[in-house]
Amino acid sequence: MIDHVIQRTEREDFRATSDPALLESADRGEVNLLSYEQLYKLWERQQWATQDLDFTRDRIDWHERIPEDERFQRMYGLSSFFIGEQRVAEELGPIMRAAPTGDMRIFLCTQIADEARHVRFFNRFYDEVGVLESATLQARLAETSQHVNPQFDVLFDGMLKGRVDRLARNPDDLELLVEAITLYHMVIEGMLALTGQHFIIEYNEEQGTLPGFVEGFNNIARDEHRHVAFGARFLREMAEEDSRYRDAIQRTLVECGPVADGVLTPKWYVEGETKLFGGVTPDETRAFAMKCLERRLKVIGLAPVV
Ligand SMILES: [Fe+2]
Ligand SMILES: [Fe+2]
Repeated sequence: MIDHVIQRTEREDFRATSDPALLESADRGEVNLLSYEQLYKLWERQQWATQDLDFTRDRIDWHERIPEDERFQRMYGLSSFFIGEQRVAEELGPIMRAAPTGDMRIFLCTQIADEARHVRFFNRFYDEVGVLESATLQARLAETSQHVNPQFDVLFDGMLKGRVDRLARNPDDLELLVEAITLYHMVIEGMLALTGQHFIIEYNEEQGTLPGFVEGFNNIARDEHRHVAFGARFLREMAEEDSRYRDAIQRTLVECGPVADGVLTPKWYVEGETKLFGGVTPDETRAFAMKCLERRLKVIGLAPVV
Protein backbone atom coordinates (compact mmCIF):
# COMPACT_ATOMS: atom_id res chain seq x y z
CA MET A 1 0.00 0.00 0.00
CA ILE A 2 2.89 2.32 0.64
CA ASP A 3 3.66 1.97 -3.08
CA HIS A 4 0.33 3.59 -3.85
CA VAL A 5 1.14 6.57 -1.67
CA ILE A 6 4.50 6.96 -3.35
CA GLN A 7 2.97 6.71 -6.86
CA ARG A 8 0.73 9.67 -6.14
CA THR A 9 3.70 11.74 -5.01
CA GLU A 10 5.02 11.70 -8.56
CA ARG A 11 2.60 14.38 -9.76
CA GLU A 12 4.41 17.69 -9.38
CA ASP A 13 1.19 19.71 -9.17
CA PHE A 14 0.01 17.50 -6.29
CA ARG A 15 3.33 17.78 -4.47
CA ALA A 16 3.29 21.56 -4.92
CA THR A 17 0.48 21.73 -2.32
CA SER A 18 2.86 20.51 0.46
CA ASP A 19 0.29 17.99 1.74
CA PRO A 20 2.49 15.82 4.00
CA ALA A 21 0.84 12.60 2.75
CA LEU A 22 2.60 13.10 -0.60
CA LEU A 23 6.08 13.65 0.77
CA GLU A 24 8.36 10.94 2.10
CA SER A 25 10.15 13.45 4.32
CA ALA A 26 6.91 13.56 6.34
CA ASP A 27 7.89 10.15 7.74
CA ARG A 28 10.63 12.08 9.56
CA GLY A 29 8.23 14.90 10.43
CA GLU A 30 9.99 17.23 7.98
CA VAL A 31 7.80 19.14 5.53
CA ASN A 32 7.89 22.80 4.56
CA LEU A 33 4.19 23.53 4.78
CA LEU A 34 3.12 26.44 2.56
CA SER A 35 1.97 29.62 4.25
CA TYR A 36 -1.68 30.68 3.89
CA GLU A 37 -0.64 33.31 1.35
CA GLN A 38 1.35 30.75 -0.66
CA LEU A 39 -1.65 28.42 -0.59
CA TYR A 40 -3.82 31.24 -1.91
CA LYS A 41 -1.36 31.94 -4.74
CA LEU A 42 -1.26 28.25 -5.61
CA TRP A 43 -5.06 28.30 -5.82
CA GLU A 44 -4.85 31.10 -8.39
CA ARG A 45 -2.43 29.00 -10.45
CA GLN A 46 -4.42 25.77 -10.16
CA GLN A 47 -7.74 26.86 -11.65
CA TRP A 48 -9.87 24.58 -13.83
CA ALA A 49 -13.41 24.62 -15.25
CA THR A 50 -16.05 21.89 -15.11
CA GLN A 51 -17.42 23.16 -18.44
CA ASP A 52 -14.11 22.34 -20.21
CA LEU A 53 -14.49 18.60 -19.56
CA ASP A 54 -15.76 16.31 -22.30
CA PHE A 55 -18.00 13.46 -21.09
CA THR A 56 -18.83 12.03 -24.54
CA ARG A 57 -16.76 8.87 -24.05
CA ASP A 58 -17.91 8.61 -20.43
CA ARG A 59 -21.54 8.41 -21.59
CA ILE A 60 -20.73 5.54 -23.95
CA ASP A 61 -18.64 3.76 -21.29
CA TRP A 62 -21.38 4.09 -18.66
CA HIS A 63 -24.19 2.71 -20.82
CA GLU A 64 -22.39 0.30 -23.15
CA ARG A 65 -19.16 -0.89 -21.53
CA ILE A 66 -19.84 -1.00 -17.79
CA PRO A 67 -22.19 -3.88 -16.80
CA GLU A 68 -25.32 -3.09 -14.76
CA ASP A 69 -24.12 -4.69 -11.51
CA GLU A 70 -20.88 -2.75 -11.73
CA ARG A 71 -22.77 0.47 -12.40
CA PHE A 72 -24.68 -0.21 -9.18
CA GLN A 73 -21.44 -0.75 -7.25
CA ARG A 74 -19.93 2.43 -8.69
CA MET A 75 -22.95 4.39 -7.45
CA TYR A 76 -21.63 4.04 -3.89
CA GLY A 77 -18.49 6.08 -4.57
CA LEU A 78 -20.20 8.54 -6.92
CA SER A 79 -23.02 9.22 -4.46
CA SER A 80 -20.74 9.58 -1.44
CA PHE A 81 -18.67 12.15 -3.30
CA PHE A 82 -21.57 14.04 -4.88
CA ILE A 83 -23.41 14.41 -1.56
CA GLY A 84 -20.19 14.82 0.42
CA GLU A 85 -19.07 17.74 -1.74
CA GLN A 86 -22.46 19.41 -1.34
CA ARG A 87 -22.33 18.95 2.46
CA VAL A 88 -18.80 20.33 2.87
CA ALA A 89 -19.50 23.28 0.53
CA GLU A 90 -22.42 24.29 2.72
CA GLU A 91 -20.66 23.76 6.08
CA LEU A 92 -17.51 25.77 5.37
CA GLY A 93 -18.96 29.27 5.84
CA PRO A 94 -18.99 29.28 9.68
CA ILE A 95 -15.52 27.68 9.74
CA MET A 96 -14.21 30.47 7.50
CA ARG A 97 -15.77 33.13 9.69
CA ALA A 98 -14.31 31.63 12.89
CA ALA A 99 -10.72 31.45 11.54
CA PRO A 100 -8.63 33.90 13.57
CA THR A 101 -6.59 35.65 10.86
CA GLY A 102 -7.41 37.35 7.57
CA ASP A 103 -4.98 35.15 5.61
CA MET A 104 -6.75 32.03 6.87
CA ARG A 105 -10.19 33.42 6.04
CA ILE A 106 -9.14 34.39 2.50
CA PHE A 107 -7.80 30.89 1.87
CA LEU A 108 -11.00 29.35 3.22
CA CYS A 109 -13.01 31.59 0.86
CA THR A 110 -11.11 30.02 -2.05
CA GLN A 111 -11.94 26.61 -0.62
CA ILE A 112 -15.65 27.40 -0.56
CA ALA A 113 -15.40 28.20 -4.29
CA ASP A 114 -13.54 24.91 -4.86
CA GLU A 115 -16.19 22.86 -3.05
CA ALA A 116 -18.92 24.55 -5.10
CA ARG A 117 -17.00 23.62 -8.27
CA HIS A 118 -16.77 20.02 -7.06
CA VAL A 119 -20.56 19.86 -6.65
CA ARG A 120 -21.02 21.28 -10.16
CA PHE A 121 -18.57 18.69 -11.50
CA PHE A 122 -20.69 15.82 -10.21
CA ASN A 123 -23.91 17.47 -11.32
CA ARG A 124 -22.56 17.89 -14.83
CA PHE A 125 -21.20 14.34 -14.94
CA TYR A 126 -24.58 12.91 -13.85
CA ASP A 127 -26.37 15.14 -16.35
CA GLU A 128 -24.23 14.53 -19.44
CA VAL A 129 -23.66 10.83 -18.79
CA GLY A 130 -27.31 10.20 -17.89
CA VAL A 131 -26.61 8.50 -14.56
CA LEU A 132 -30.09 9.07 -13.06
CA GLU A 133 -33.66 9.89 -14.08
CA SER A 134 -33.69 13.12 -12.05
CA ALA A 135 -33.00 16.31 -13.98
CA THR A 136 -32.12 18.94 -11.35
CA LEU A 137 -29.31 19.28 -8.80
CA GLN A 138 -31.64 18.94 -5.80
CA ALA A 139 -33.49 15.97 -7.27
CA ARG A 140 -30.25 14.20 -8.20
CA LEU A 141 -28.87 14.63 -4.67
CA ALA A 142 -32.08 13.16 -3.24
CA GLU A 143 -32.17 10.23 -5.70
CA THR A 144 -28.49 9.34 -5.29
CA SER A 145 -28.66 9.43 -1.46
CA GLN A 146 -30.09 5.87 -1.35
CA HIS A 147 -26.61 4.57 -2.18
CA VAL A 148 -24.66 5.93 0.82
CA ASN A 149 -24.39 3.99 4.08
CA PRO A 150 -25.72 4.98 7.55
CA GLN A 151 -22.28 6.01 8.87
CA PHE A 152 -22.14 8.62 6.12
CA ASP A 153 -25.15 10.42 7.63
CA VAL A 154 -23.72 10.12 11.16
CA LEU A 155 -20.46 11.70 10.03
CA PHE A 156 -21.82 14.53 7.86
CA ASP A 157 -25.24 15.32 9.31
CA GLY A 158 -24.35 14.59 12.94
CA MET A 159 -20.67 15.09 13.70
CA LEU A 160 -19.79 17.73 11.10
CA LYS A 161 -23.01 19.73 11.04
CA GLY A 162 -23.27 19.60 14.86
CA ARG A 163 -19.84 21.14 15.31
CA VAL A 164 -20.34 23.72 12.57
CA ASP A 165 -23.74 24.77 13.99
CA ARG A 166 -22.11 25.31 17.40
CA LEU A 167 -19.25 27.19 15.77
CA ALA A 168 -21.72 29.46 13.97
CA ARG A 169 -23.13 30.41 17.40
CA ASN A 170 -19.66 30.67 19.02
CA PRO A 171 -17.25 31.98 16.35
CA ASP A 172 -14.61 32.85 19.01
CA ASP A 173 -14.32 29.29 20.28
CA LEU A 174 -10.90 28.24 18.94
CA GLU A 175 -11.05 24.80 20.54
CA LEU A 176 -14.25 24.10 18.61
CA LEU A 177 -12.64 25.45 15.44
CA VAL A 178 -9.73 23.02 15.95
CA GLU A 179 -12.25 20.17 16.29
CA ALA A 180 -14.11 21.26 13.15
CA ILE A 181 -10.93 21.54 11.06
CA THR A 182 -9.64 18.18 12.36
CA LEU A 183 -12.89 16.55 11.24
CA TYR A 184 -13.24 18.50 7.99
CA HIS A 185 -9.66 18.68 6.70
CA MET A 186 -7.96 15.69 8.32
CA VAL A 187 -10.75 13.10 8.50
CA ILE A 188 -13.24 13.92 5.72
CA GLU A 189 -10.88 15.35 3.12
CA GLY A 190 -7.61 13.71 4.16
CA MET A 191 -8.72 10.20 5.11
CA LEU A 192 -11.97 9.72 3.19
CA ALA A 193 -11.98 11.88 0.06
CA LEU A 194 -8.37 11.42 -0.98
CA THR A 195 -8.48 7.67 -0.27
CA GLY A 196 -11.67 7.19 -2.30
CA GLN A 197 -10.27 9.34 -5.08
CA HIS A 198 -7.05 7.39 -5.21
CA PHE A 199 -8.74 4.00 -5.64
CA ILE A 200 -11.49 5.23 -7.98
CA ILE A 201 -9.03 7.03 -10.28
CA GLU A 202 -6.65 4.07 -10.29
CA TYR A 203 -9.46 1.63 -11.12
CA ASN A 204 -10.73 3.76 -14.01
CA GLU A 205 -7.20 4.19 -15.36
CA GLU A 206 -6.64 0.41 -15.25
CA GLN A 207 -9.97 -0.26 -16.96
CA GLY A 208 -9.62 2.60 -19.45
CA THR A 209 -13.07 3.91 -18.46
CA LEU A 210 -14.62 7.38 -17.89
CA PRO A 211 -11.76 9.59 -19.19
CA GLY A 212 -13.62 12.89 -18.65
CA PHE A 213 -14.48 11.86 -15.11
CA VAL A 214 -10.87 10.87 -14.39
CA GLU A 215 -9.58 14.21 -15.68
CA GLY A 216 -11.97 16.20 -13.48
CA PHE A 217 -11.51 13.91 -10.47
CA ASN A 218 -7.74 14.41 -10.64
CA ASN A 219 -8.35 18.16 -10.55
CA ILE A 220 -10.55 17.66 -7.50
CA ALA A 221 -7.86 15.53 -5.83
CA ARG A 222 -5.32 18.31 -6.39
CA ASP A 223 -7.73 20.79 -4.79
CA GLU A 224 -8.23 18.44 -1.83
CA HIS A 225 -4.47 18.12 -1.27
CA ARG A 226 -4.32 21.93 -1.13
CA HIS A 227 -7.19 22.00 1.38
CA VAL A 228 -5.56 19.34 3.55
CA ALA A 229 -2.27 21.28 3.45
CA PHE A 230 -4.16 24.27 4.87
CA GLY A 231 -5.57 22.04 7.62
CA ALA A 232 -2.13 20.65 8.47
CA ARG A 233 -0.66 24.16 8.73
CA PHE A 234 -3.50 25.44 10.89
CA LEU A 235 -3.48 22.42 13.22
CA ARG A 236 0.32 22.51 13.58
CA GLU A 237 0.19 26.15 14.64
CA MET A 238 -2.60 25.48 17.10
CA ALA A 239 -0.94 22.33 18.51
CA GLU A 240 2.25 24.32 19.13
CA GLU A 241 0.30 27.08 20.84
CA ASP A 242 -1.54 25.15 23.55
CA SER A 243 -1.96 21.56 24.76
CA ARG A 244 -5.73 22.16 24.88
CA TYR A 245 -5.70 22.23 21.09
CA ARG A 246 -3.56 19.11 20.88
CA ASP A 247 -6.12 17.37 23.05
CA ALA A 248 -8.94 18.67 20.83
CA ILE A 249 -7.28 17.18 17.71
CA GLN A 250 -6.76 13.81 19.39
CA ARG A 251 -10.25 13.75 20.90
CA THR A 252 -11.83 14.42 17.50
CA LEU A 253 -9.78 11.73 15.76
CA VAL A 254 -10.74 9.17 18.42
CA GLU A 255 -14.43 10.12 18.22
CA CYS A 256 -14.79 10.42 14.45
CA GLY A 257 -12.17 7.92 13.20
CA PRO A 258 -14.29 4.74 13.62
CA VAL A 259 -17.31 6.33 11.89
CA ALA A 260 -15.11 7.56 9.05
CA ASP A 261 -13.71 4.05 8.73
CA GLY A 262 -17.27 2.75 8.28
CA VAL A 263 -17.91 5.28 5.51
CA LEU A 264 -15.10 3.78 3.40
CA THR A 265 -16.89 0.42 3.08
CA PRO A 266 -20.09 0.22 0.95
CA LYS A 267 -23.18 -1.30 2.56
CA TRP A 268 -23.30 -4.01 -0.11
CA TYR A 269 -19.80 -5.26 0.77
CA VAL A 270 -19.69 -8.77 2.24
CA GLU A 271 -16.34 -10.06 3.41
CA GLY A 272 -15.15 -12.91 1.20
CA GLU A 273 -18.11 -12.61 -1.21
CA THR A 274 -17.97 -9.21 -2.89
CA LYS A 275 -15.02 -7.21 -4.10
CA LEU A 276 -14.34 -3.52 -4.18
CA PHE A 277 -13.02 -2.14 -7.45
CA GLY A 278 -10.13 -4.13 -8.81
CA GLY A 279 -10.27 -6.59 -5.90
CA VAL A 280 -9.19 -4.01 -3.31
CA THR A 281 -10.21 -4.93 0.26
CA PRO A 282 -11.37 -2.59 3.06
CA ASP A 283 -8.10 -3.44 4.83
CA GLU A 284 -6.22 -1.92 1.90
CA THR A 285 -8.29 1.28 1.75
CA ARG A 286 -7.92 1.57 5.54
CA ALA A 287 -4.15 1.09 5.36
CA PHE A 288 -3.90 3.79 2.70
CA ALA A 289 -5.97 6.25 4.75
CA MET A 290 -3.97 5.53 7.91
CA LYS A 291 -0.61 5.95 6.21
CA CYS A 292 -1.68 9.37 4.92
CA LEU A 293 -3.03 10.38 8.34
CA GLU A 294 0.17 9.24 10.06
CA ARG A 295 2.32 11.42 7.81
CA ARG A 296 0.12 14.45 8.38
CA LEU A 297 0.08 13.92 12.16
CA LYS A 298 3.86 13.65 12.26
CA VAL A 299 4.14 17.02 10.55
CA ILE A 300 1.53 18.53 12.87
CA GLY A 301 3.65 17.18 15.75
CA LEU A 302 1.17 14.66 17.08
CA ALA A 303 2.60 11.30 16.05
CA PRO A 304 5.92 9.74 16.97
CA VAL A 305 8.57 10.34 14.31
CA VAL A 306 10.53 7.18 13.43
FE1 LIG B 1 -14.17 18.94 -2.41
FE1 LIG C 1 -12.06 20.07 -0.11
